[in-house]
Amino acid sequence: MDYPVFHFDFIGGRLLIAFIAVLHVLINHALAVGLIPLVTYLEHLGFKRGDEKLDQLAYRIMFFAFLITTTIGAMTGVGIWLSTSLVNPASIGSLIRVFYVGWAVEWIVFVTEVVLIMIYFLSWKKSHASPEAKKKHIRFGVALSAASWLTMAIIVAILGFMMDTGNWTEHHSLLNGLTNPIYLPQLAFRTPLAVVMAGTVVLLLTQYFAKNDPETRHYASRKIGGVLLTLIPLTFAAAVWYYGRIPNLMIGNLQIATTTQDFQEWYGLLMKFVWSALAVTAIASIVPFFKPNALPRWAYVVPVVGMMAFAGLFERLREFIRKPYVIGEYMYSNAIRVEDLPLFQRDGILPYAAYARVHEVTPETMLTAGEDLFMLTCSKCHTTNGVNNVTEKFELMYGGVGTPLGEKGKAMGTYIQNMHNARYFMPPFPGNEKEIKALVAYIQHLQGSPGDVHPAQTDGVDPDISATFPAHSN
Ligand code: HEC
Repeated sequence: MDYPVFHFDFIGGRLLIAFIAVLHVLINHALAVGLIPLVTYLEHLGFKRGDEKLDQLAYRIMFFAFLITTTIGAMTGVGIWLSTSLVNPASIGSLIRVFYVGWAVEWIVFVTEVVLIMIYFLSWKKSHASPEAKKKHIRFGVALSAASWLTMAIIVAILGFMMDTGNWTEHHSLLNGLTNPIYLPQLAFRTPLAVVMAGTVVLLLTQYFAKNDPETRHYASRKIGGVLLTLIPLTFAAAVWYYGRIPNLMIGNLQIATTTQDFQEWYGLLMKFVWSALAVTAIASIVPFFKPNALPRWAYVVPVVGMMAFAGLFERLREFIRKPYVIGEYMYSNAIRVEDLPLFQRDGILPYAAYARVHEVTPETMLTAGEDLFMLTCSKCHTTNGVNNVTEKFELMYGGVGTPLGEKGKAMGTYIQNMHNARYFMPPFPGNEKEIKALVAYIQHLQGSPGDVHPAQTDGVDPDISATFPAHSN
């Protein structure tokens, strides 16, 4: 509302963020936070046993992780900032204000992590010079493991806050934000999860990097299998704790979050599939502990794919079930603050929207106003001609794809008025009755001209500074 609206009409903002963020999390967990301690562990074992080949294996795994984390990993990290601040600048603005110090610390720790990863990887060859040099090198590995974990630990506080702000809404302080109820269970879950994800990757790489050296391969597989055997039950226990802390209303969103509305009836089947896949993954990951040569090399791909799919699904669910809020009970996903809702429902949102092209609904401005309203109130989750297409959603409700909406104006208006009650994950409509009429007219118009939208990034904006809004405090 206080910002021009950036909108990708085919994939939508949600999917844009999801692509970048999920890729980032997978790389971060499986190749940095979880992997560095495992590589350091293998290096330590190599040193203790005087086993050059094990050291070499650890180095090659590190090389792989170094290549990916410093390229795709780093770029998607910056990509999260870019995409989230384009799609929802108001919520990122709020989070920066609350976690200003937290994010400052995060940057320092992150830069430390980058420096340490450079040192750790680039000085590996030189560490063979003497036992002292090797010991020092291993200590760098430990420090790097700690720094990688710390960057995750800070971000997880913010992710927890976005789901449930705890008592922050009463006392707006950083400490209240940091001690949100979901923080510790989520951190307790992600920590072993990251190592388990990384463990499956290390097992797979070991089969190929030590292909011609059964002794090293079996030894490393057995050790990593042992770590997984310990951590898989811990991850499961932490997941149960985490689940127990998720507010009930969010649990209610789980079904649609997992499947989408069209496939709701598949939920039970899908969950059986997820559980079976997890069981296969867990078994395949611990087999090497008991029998390192039991599985064929290609079979190690299965747990990697299983863990990646599970972690991806988990991120999708976590992001979805927080709806209708982007920041729990404080700001709706469409960037409207909960406390501003009554004002907008009374006066309409257009008079306060600085970047709207019109500020009043009249017969002449009907369609332009309707489009502005779609952009302000629906476009964070819907498109006009792509993923979660708003016209199609109405058509489906009234009979099926292609059902004419011309005669359905009244019913559509009533639906929008009650959308939050009809579908809890959608925020209440933040506007007045006149605005609902304009939005309905625009959606009806879209049926004949799908994709008739004018996002700020392609069509520019013409801000009207007469539309003002009381300054935001948080
Ligand atoms: C926070 C995200 C979000 C916002 C904002 C939002 N929606 Fe939705 N809406 C959804 C999701 C998610 C679905 C279900 C998609 C699916 O699974 O098929 C949905 C479904 C719908 C449906 C179909 C409901 C049904 O029961 O079949 C309609 C109609 C709809 N939205 C209209 C709107 C309109 C109009 C706006 C803007 C005033 C809007 N939505 C704003 C997320 C949102």
